Amino acid sequence: MVVGSTIEPTLGQADKALDVENLEVVYNDVVLVLRGVSLNIARGAIVTLLGANGAGKTTLLRAVSGLLELHRADATKGSIRLDGHDVTRLASASRVGKGLAQVMEGRRIFTSLTVEENLRSGGIAAASRSEANDTFGRMLEMFPVLARRLHDVAGYLSGGEQQMLAIGRALMSGPSMLLLDEPSLGLAPRVVEQIRDVVVEVNRHGTSVLLVEQNAAMALSIADHGYVMEHGRIVREGPASSLLADRDIAEFYLGGGTDRRSYADVKTYRRRKTWGA
Ligand SMILES: Nc1ncnc2c1ncn2[C@@H]1O[C@H](COP(=O)(O)OP(=O)(O)OP(=O)(O)O)[C@@H](O)[C@H]1O
Ligand SMILES: [Mg+2]
Repeated sequence: MVVGSTIEPTLGQADKALDVENLEVVYNDVVLVLRGVSLNIARGAIVTLLGANGAGKTTLLRAVSGLLELHRADATKGSIRLDGHDVTRLASASRVGKGLAQVMEGRRIFTSLTVEENLRSGGIAAASRSEANDTFGRMLEMFPVLARRLHDVAGYLSGGEQQMLAIGRALMSGPSMLLLDEPSLGLAPRVVEQIRDVVVEVNRHGTSVLLVEQNAAMALSIADHGYVMEHGRIVREGPASSLLADRDIAEFYLGGGTDRRSYADVKTYRRRKTWGA
C-alpha cells in the first residue's frame, strides 16, 4: 500500500461539495463534448475551471445543474454528486433544493422586470416569506449598487450591474454551492475587481464556488484549486498558486495576447523548444 503518495489530502465523499466523476456528455446523440471529466470541490472552496472557447466548460455546468436535456444533450457515462448525493439523473429543480445555484453565461436576467422583481424571483423556493425577506435584506447589503436602483428596470443597468444582479438573484436561494459561468466577460477591469470581491465575500459566508473563467489571472487570484479543460478533457489541475506560477499557463492564459494557441500547443511547442535547445 502506498501511503502519503499524494501531496494534497484525499477528500472523503462527505468533504466534497461537488464530485464529478468520469463524465461523458453527448449533444444530439452524436457529438461527444465531455470525454471523461473528473473534477471535485472541497466543501467551502473556490475552484476555477479554465479553458479556451469551446473546451466544454459551459457544458460541464449544464450537466451539474441538470440542464443538459434542454440543450438536447445527455450524460452518457459517469456521475455527479452534490454533497455526497448522486444527482446525475435528478431534475434541475431538485438540485436547487439540494443547495445548488447557477449564474449562467451572458447574465440571463429579466430585462423588463425591476431589480427588486429580479431578485425576488430568485427566492421563490424559500421556506417562508420571512426567510426570503432576510435573504433579500442581505443582498441589499452585499450589493449597494442594486439597493440604490431597486425600482429601475433591469435592462437599463450597466453590464457590471446586470452581472451583480444575476449573482444576487442566484444567491436568493441561499445556495451552498454556486456555479458561475464567466462572470467577468466583457466587463471593465474595475468592474471585474468588484465581481471578484463579491465572489470572495459569498465564499466567506460558506458557499462553495465553481468559477468558470477565461480571465485566469482573476480566477486564480481567488481560487484554492484550478482545472484546465481542453477539448472536453481536464489537461491540468492543481493548487491555484502552482497554476499561477506555471509558465505554460502564463503564456496561454495570462499573456493577454491575441494569438491564442491551445494550451496543449503551447506545451508541445515549449517541449520541442526545450528538446531542440
Ligand atoms: N446545444 C448544443 N448543441 C450542439 N453542440 C453544442 C451545443 N452547445 C455547445 N456545443 C458544442 O460543445 C462544445 C463545447 O461547448 P461549451 O459551450 O461547453 O464550451 P465552453 O468551454 O463553455 O466555450 P466558451 O468559452 O466559448 O463559452 C463546442 O464544440 C460547442 O460547439
Ligand atoms: Mg461557455
